[in-house]
Amino acid sequence: MKYLILLLAVGLCTACNSEPRAADSGTEQARDTTLRVSTQPFGQTKEGPVTKYTLENANGMQVSVINQGGIITNIVVPDKNGAMEDVVLGFDSVTSYLGDYPYFGAFIGRYGNRIAKGTFELDDEQYTLPTNNGPNSLHGGLKGFDKKYWTATPLEEADRVGIRLTGTSPDGEEGYPGTLTVTVHYWLDNDDALTLEYAAETDEATPVNLTNHTYFNLGGAGSGDILGHELMIAADRFTPVDETLIPTGKLQSVEGTPFDFRQPTPIGERIEADDEQIRFGGGYDHNFVLNRSGEGLQQIATVYEPESGRTLEVETTEPGVQFYSGNFLDGSNIGKGGQPYELRTGFCLETQHFPDSPNQPDFPSTILQPGETYTSTTVYRFGVR
Ligand code: BGC
Repeated sequence: MKYLILLLAVGLCTACNSEPRAADSGTEQARDTTLRVSTQPFGQTKEGPVTKYTLENANGMQVSVINQGGIITNIVVPDKNGAMEDVVLGFDSVTSYLGDYPYFGAFIGRYGNRIAKGTFELDDEQYTLPTNNGPNSLHGGLKGFDKKYWTATPLEEADRVGIRLTGTSPDGEEGYPGTLTVTVHYWLDNDDALTLEYAAETDEATPVNLTNHTYFNLGGAGSGDILGHELMIAADRFTPVDETLIPTGKLQSVEGTPFDFRQPTPIGERIEADDEQIRFGGGYDHNFVLNRSGEGLQQIATVYEPESGRTLEVETTEPGVQFYSGNFLDGSNIGKGGQPYELRTGFCLETQHFPDSPNQPDFPSTILQPGETYTSTTVYRFGVR
């Protein structure tokens, strides 16, 4: 009985240990109490208990995040008739997130995307990273941030709720120099916007490129392919790749190619085009060079799913976005509710610096120096039409 009461208390607890809470700062009256954080046990790893933190807003939108891998496990949003559905791919149990899986919802670091042949030179020193994607290093290596156990703190502020994840990546972890201290915030507000804020500091120069690897399906996770989703990406150029998906170093115009998403276009319309870049990617698996004017958050992509009417707008401070159309999904991952995730049943818009930047002197630099703070912000805003 005692155990049952304890379980219920844990399950129902609303941001029990949150700090800072508006309540603690004496402004409780002003706080929008339709915004809340609840917690639920989500299994155990060798490193400790895993908790699922669910952020909820006044519209009933929910975002769930676990401290294992900083993974976004669920995003539940209404369709045009108000029907709530989970629109991201993921698993029901933590064990599926511990092994080899295609980074569903994961927090990616230290370096999102590929580093050619798992090596780079920095300050006259050659660094070797474990390769985990053919000849290349992908998404931080064998035990990237998606496999790290993070310290989580639920947060309740006046007009948003969130989770803060903190952790340290020791010097030499996965081959990278420097001790990197990392903080990520996931915020939900009443505008149905999920904001991801990354920050990192180092004690030695090191490459950093943090992102999130959520697979969206605005028709509902497991509801079919994403080929009918209409996508707009504000990019006049993309970074063409070789057959191992490493950028050639050129910035190529999207004009007249299947990569022209400047006007909303169904993802499936040109995905089988007779085009070398499409062949190399097995579909879309490319970094787009965003049309930016200055710094700060800018809207860089929109997505519309005609049947559900759901929309997604993406804003970022980053110069690039990897549009990945789920070409390696093949039904072998059994997702939430026992659904196998088949070919192209989810897509990712991974905001980032360009792939392989440590080996590409002409790309915007990804090197973080001691004394500097790395920051990056991305907003995923949901709606209906
Ligand atoms: C990569 C894909 C890869 C996927 C899952 C994407 O970011 O570009 O090639 O298959 O992540 O690992």
